[in-house]
This record gives sequence, structure tokens and C-alpha cells, in this order.
Amino acid sequence: SLLAASTPRTVLLASPRSFCAGVERAVQVVERALERSSGPVYVRKQIVHNVHVVADLESRGAVFVDELDAVPEESTVVFSAHGVSPAVRGAASSRQLQVIDATCPLVTKVHVEARRFAARGDTVILIGHAGHEEVEGTLGEVDEMRLVQSVEDVETVDVPDPSRVSYLTQTTLSVDETTEIVTALRRRFPALRNPPSDDICYATTNRQQALRSVAAAADLVLVVGSTNSSNSLRLVELAERQGTPAHLVDDVRDINPRWLVNATTIGLTAGASAPPHLITAIIDALAGLGPITTEEHETARETIQFTLPSPLRRT
Ligand code: F3S
Repeated sequence: SLLAASTPRTVLLASPRSFCAGVERAVQVVERALERSSGPVYVRKQIVHNVHVVADLESRGAVFVDELDAVPEESTVVFSAHGVSPAVRGAASSRQLQVIDATCPLVTKVHVEARRFAARGDTVILIGHAGHEEVEGTLGEVDEMRLVQSVEDVETVDVPDPSRVSYLTQTTLSVDETTEIVTALRRRFPALRNPPSDDICYATTNRQQALRSVAAAADLVLVVGSTNSSNSLRLVELAERQGTPAHLVDDVRDINPRWLVNATTIGLTAGASAPPHLITAIIDALAGLGPITTEEHETARETIQFTLPSPLRRT
């Protein structure tokens, strides 16, 4: 409307936002595999949970499949950033697939811990969301792992020996909610053993911290990300818990103009799987509605980078 068109706005950019090192690496893995492979490159599941990333790689020739039985024997298949269970690795080798593993090293770390904790005789409790691909992969590492999704679940979780219990978490959870669940677990199992370092990854933690620094001051928060992106959903919840209306958008087209009425200060962030150009497009669109000032609110600087899997490294 004319009214909206004349409103000066401030855009508070949460930083860090958008791609993390694990997502950068996973996208590069598919790009390199496409460059190097003579035949088709299959990708099991969405390489990262973002519709734009998937559509872009698809347009460049990647073939996304839900399960390995859709991949012809002996072809090349990429495992997604979320990781896979040993059963999936077994299925790939029995079909003689050429596997390129784009599992984020910080997800692999959790798998290694699961095996180690189980080997020392602990019951392993995984805090995470049922059905998420990362959780399915991690749960596959150890028989009898317990999944806990909430403080309520803690009350009913059943273990053979309460003095031998350790926990792990999904990498993309809410830091605050996880602290509450761990506190409840420790109340029930005082001998509960921690992972050696946080399983919630640096990127998840940093994006939550950055948004926390802008959400309370904003009239509206926009989180760029896809609906199945766990870390993006946690950002929406975080803003809402600060009392600020928040929406998850895949891109600028998902923004309902009505949200912008009376929103003169807009907090903007993007989940770890959302490409940075989507943020630029939103800022450009908001600038098209009237004068805007953008303010970058940086709470951490990220320098971490992961090397590519060895068959893809450039020498
Ligand atoms: Fe890895 Fe964390 Fe990104 S687990 S893929 S660095 S969100």
C-alpha cells in the first residue's frame, strides 16, 4: 500500500547467518562430483534441507533419490550432510555403489561418540527430533539407543542400569531447550555422562545467539530457510519466545505484505542451509518499498572450514 511504501524501515541483520561450513562442504561435494563423474551423480536424500540448493544442483544434473534402491548398481551416490546409518552404508556396498560421503564432520563426531559410549557399556540417550534424517542415522549406530524429544519424555525413558547412562544430541537443536532436557535427565540419572564437547554445533549455537541479539528489538523476524530445516525452525521459535512474531520463508516470494504493516524494525536471519543470495534478494525487495537502513549485528565470527572428502580434493 502507499502507506507501507512510505515507511522508513530498519533491517537488523543477525550475523552469523546462512551457510555453515558443513553445508558449504556438502554443496561443493556434489559440484565436484558432477564435474568429475562421467555418469550420473545420485544424491541420497536432500543434500541439505533447502529447496533452492536442491533445485540448483538438480538443474546441473544431480539426481536426488529417497532410497538407495533407486540408484543403479555401481553408480556414484552422495550421502547427504545429515549422515547415514551403518545399514545404509551396508546397502551401498552390497549394491557396489561408489560412495562419496558429504556427512558433516560434526555429525560424524556424534556417531563416533554413540559407538564409544555404547562400547563402554552405557545406555545412550539421544536428544533429538523423531524422523529427522540426522536422528535416523545416529540411532542406527547403536542398538537400543533411546530417543528423547522433550522434558516430558525424560520421565518415561527406561534404562537397564541408571548408573550407566550417557547422552548425545542432534546438532541443530535449540540450545535453551536442550539445556532444560539435560537438566531433567540429570535429575533422573545423576550419573549421566556428557559428550566431551557440545553436540549442538557451532553454527547452530552462533545463529541462535546472533538472532537473540536482534529479535527482541524487532517488530518482525524473518528467517530464511525451508520447512524441513531443523536449525531454521529453531530460529523461528527463538524469536517467538522473545515475543516477536517470526516467519520462516523460503525466499522473498513467501513474504506476506501484511506482515510488514507496522513493522518498522525487521530482524533478518537465515538457517545454516539457506544460501546467502536469498537474504540479499529480501533486502533489495524491502528497499523497493521505501527507505531502509541495514544494521549488521555480529555476535561471532566464523572461520571454520572443512576439507573435502579425499577423492574430491584438488591437488
Ligand atoms: Fe554441520 Fe552444524 Fe552445519 S552439524 S552441516 S556445521 S549446521
